Amino acid sequence: MSNVVIVGTQWGDEGKGKIVDLLTERADCVVRFQGGNNAGHTLVVQGDKHIFHLIPSGILHPDKVCMIGNGVVVDPAVLIGEMDRLREAGLAVTPEKLVVSRYAHVIMPYHRALDLARENRKGSTKIGTTGRGIGPCYEDKVSRNGIRIHDLFDPQGFRSKLDKILEEKNFMLERYFGEAPLDGEVIAREYLRYGERLKPFAGNVSERLQEADRTGKSLLFEGAQGTHLDIDHGTYPYVTSSNTVAGNACCGAGIGPSRIHRVIGIVKAYTTRVGGGPFPSEILDETGEYIRSVGGEYGATTGRPRRCGWLDMVVVGTSIRLNGLSGIVVTKLDVLTGIPRLKIATGYRCGSMEMGSVPPELEALEACVPVYEELPGWEEDIGELRSFARLPANAKRYLQAVEELAGVPLSIISVGPGRDENIILRHPFDD
Ligand code: GDP
Ligand code: IMO
Ligand code: MG
Repeated sequence: MSNVVIVGTQWGDEGKGKIVDLLTERADCVVRFQGGNNAGHTLVVQGDKHIFHLIPSGILHPDKVCMIGNGVVVDPAVLIGEMDRLREAGLAVTPEKLVVSRYAHVIMPYHRALDLARENRKGSTKIGTTGRGIGPCYEDKVSRNGIRIHDLFDPQGFRSKLDKILEEKNFMLERYFGEAPLDGEVIAREYLRYGERLKPFAGNVSERLQEADRTGKSLLFEGAQGTHLDIDHGTYPYVTSSNTVAGNACCGAGIGPSRIHRVIGIVKAYTTRVGGGPFPSEILDETGEYIRSVGGEYGATTGRPRRCGWLDMVVVGTSIRLNGLSGIVVTKLDVLTGIPRLKIATGYRCGSMEMGSVPPELEALEACVPVYEELPGWEEDIGELRSFARLPANAKRYLQAVEELAGVPLSIISVGPGRDENIILRHPFDD
């Protein structure tokens, strides 16, 4: 029995969903602990593509329990939509299979409206949020003006909280942003209906996890976004509004740090970023275009083209520190096939200074120029390979360079989007 946390080591979209789906085979419970439907996790199982924004990526496995922790911000319409789509696909989503924390905060229509209005007003300095209301919902949580899942089960209490909150939100929307105000009656009717749908699924995730852990079950924690989008440790202000690092698995699910045994970081074989913010190893020429097109690098949530760049081991190395990674998984190695020369950023030069980790100040990072190590590429198709030994010599060299620079063991190499397209070196659930 062991409990494993999965996090992204870059700026999100590393392939966390695919790896969580793969590892769920050896887990009993899969838990989301932060973020919301800004996440887009894509799984390909037997040729069928499934995208989840809120429901943990373990849901396609029968007999596993998926949980949405208190640290997640939940848009109930999105959650219900995902449950309905699974049911249409023939997968029953029952309260035995899905538990939503009663204490998770609810994304309300004014959160989405404010997210969009703020971004519009910022113009060229906008963050490039997903527009899902994530930031404004976390703001209300921290300022103690939030609505939590359990509030949706108390019609009177909910209505009076909502009316009070709406006074301020409508003032902002109308008077500051020049947007239309929102109607409390309409919102209450809609959200109380969501409450009725979600009530059977609501529970105390922390207690459920304690019970599962006590009875020898294995827990898998599914991070969303990536380490460099972390509200404290990322490239602020071009970040998301939650802590994306592994430590937050404890806060966002209600479990103590001594119950976590392993932390695995997902490393895409190159780097991508959606939205604004510094990106030292970004490739702005046709190689970047090539990676975007071969890798299908378009946002699973917003459809925006992802910015593409070389693998940056300064970024990954900083994630190793921030998450205390026990191992890494390299994904999308197959996408690099056919690129004659590959680059890996091994350090930054900032004026006369050399740096080995991402500087926390935006201005300092913007002034950094990567120092690259160049490696020869490979031409052979690697999608069918299931053993390290059979990889082309230059692919092995690339992975050995990554493992050496990381200083932590390589657990799995993903060579295609499908559940079975992996080379497993050390399974994260092995003792
Ligand atoms: P997540 O947000 O970290 O779960 O990642 P996304 O699902 O947003 O983006 C990863 C994309 O790459 C998805 O479309 C996956 O199906 C796909 N993918 C994952 N691993 C591999 C891989 O090894 N090779 C290829 N070609 N695609 C992969
Ligand atoms: P997954 O889990 C990539 C980015 C947005 C924007 C910034 C803030 O699929 O890896 P937000 O809506 O969170 O306030 O936007 O964060 N972002 C992501 N980028 N993958 C994600 O999730 C992301 N979730 C948010 O593009 O730059
Ligand atoms: Mg994604």
